[in-house]
Amino acid sequence: MERIFIFDTTLRDGEQVPGCQLNTVEKIQVAKALEALGVDVIEAGFPVSSPGDFNSVVEISKAVTWPTICALTRGVQKDIDVAFEALKYAKNKRIHTGIGTSDYHIKYKFNSNQDEILERAIAATKYAKKYVEDVEFYCEDAGRTDNEYLARVVEAVIKAGATVVNIPDTTGYCLPDQFGSKIKYLMENVPNIHKAIISTHCHNDLGMATANTMSGILNGARQVEVTINGIGERAGNTSLEEIAMILKCHKTLGLDTNINTQKIVSTSRLVSNLMNMPVQANKAVVGRNAFSHSSGIHQDGVLKNIQTYEIINPKDVGIDDNSIVLTARSGRAALKHRLNVLGVEVEGEKLDELYQKFLELADQKKSINDTDILLLAGKESSKGKRIQLDYLQVTSGKGVKSVASISLLIAGEKFEASSSGNGPVDAAIKAVKQIIKREMVLQEFTIQAIDRGSDDMGKVHMQVLHNNKVYYGFGADTDIVVASVEAYIDAINKF
Ligand code: KIV
Ligand code: ZN
Repeated sequence: MERIFIFDTTLRDGEQVPGCQLNTVEKIQVAKALEALGVDVIEAGFPVSSPGDFNSVVEISKAVTWPTICALTRGVQKDIDVAFEALKYAKNKRIHTGIGTSDYHIKYKFNSNQDEILERAIAATKYAKKYVEDVEFYCEDAGRTDNEYLARVVEAVIKAGATVVNIPDTTGYCLPDQFGSKIKYLMENVPNIHKAIISTHCHNDLGMATANTMSGILNGARQVEVTINGIGERAGNTSLEEIAMILKCHKTLGLDTNINTQKIVSTSRLVSNLMNMPVQANKAVVGRNAFSHSSGIHQDGVLKNIQTYEIINPKDVGIDDNSIVLTARSGRAALKHRLNVLGVEVEGEKLDELYQKFLELADQKKSINDTDILLLAGKESSKGKRIQLDYLQVTSGKGVKSVASISLLIAGEKFEASSSGNGPVDAAIKAVKQIIKREMVLQEFTIQAIDRGSDDMGKVHMQVLHNNKVYYGFGADTDIVVASVEAYIDAINKF
């Protein structure tokens, strides 16, 4: 089997998505889960972009042992200096530098020309090489870059010391055949190509990221840049789980990754919960419906022989039908074990607090699933926020006016209000607004059930406009009015 290297950019390209920002503690949690999953390279951030990003790269470098830690830069010295500084604790470090190579970038972004950009590419690579052995160079918008010029850039940066060359389809424009031909052209026309690994980095604007990545692999790329759940700029990046499972299902390709596929679903849920980014139900490999057969014909076939309609064994991605069911009778150790399986490490007092919350929820729900547990863990981490929901009562129903009474704790002080509205959520939010007297407009509001039963948790995502800026809020509860108010307060806490 030939090895395909998995370069995960969930914490860089994925984290750039509005509303998906994580704090350093959460990023470390994701990085450790990625390490356990078996990724080869973790792109931990873009250190020059903010002190928070810098700090995350430092802390992830300390927390993670064997994967290479990579820091992104523009092709400028200052960025490279800062990236190297952020990587100082990484056992295996990589600097990822680069520049736009398409005519759009050269002309409109840099107001430059091909020769000047080529010189800048060489200079950035040489500068990064002074610091680290492992330098990756990206040709931004390679998908729309003329192949002949792209080959010149690739040859030059390899000569300057690049160990990996990234060919991004930045805008998600290429057709699979075009992208594959591009990689083939480079493999056949760059004389020193064997001295570097060619990497793909495909965006999903036209829904072709996975197909393009596979086409890149089939034509010689040996590293793929991917994210968990396919999150990333705009329509996202190629999703890790799809590539890992394609290669596992198509063994005749003779290509393999280091991914422990049984950890795919738990990593997917961890990222989705921490980033408050729901996974679409029909998402390949990790969607809620990915393994459920609903039509009669399919169910009949599956009962006769599972392979009639199922190409992936759910156990291979970590869906274990026999997993221990947590109920109000489960002990602290069972909860801790399940949290560890899901990539969450809690000890001592934090575990005690979480266990109490778990018992409260288990009294309301018959059985507690992994998503509930991750949500609880997430809710716990929101403790200590300035504004907290203390008490909420709503009356609503057919033929009665909805009325809400609410109590908020603001920096520990209690504030109460009540209001009517044209529904329970409207009444509760109007009551919150009586206490928090700020200009704010609720722009988007989605309620999603997590599993199926009527005792399920509801997740609420909100966008609130304040001072011309959009703030994202998230709440989860078995009571959807409580979840809505929690989401609203979460957004307010952010401003
Ligand atoms: O999409 C892209 O081109 C990128 C580069 C910065 C690698 O994310
Ligand atoms: Zn990208």
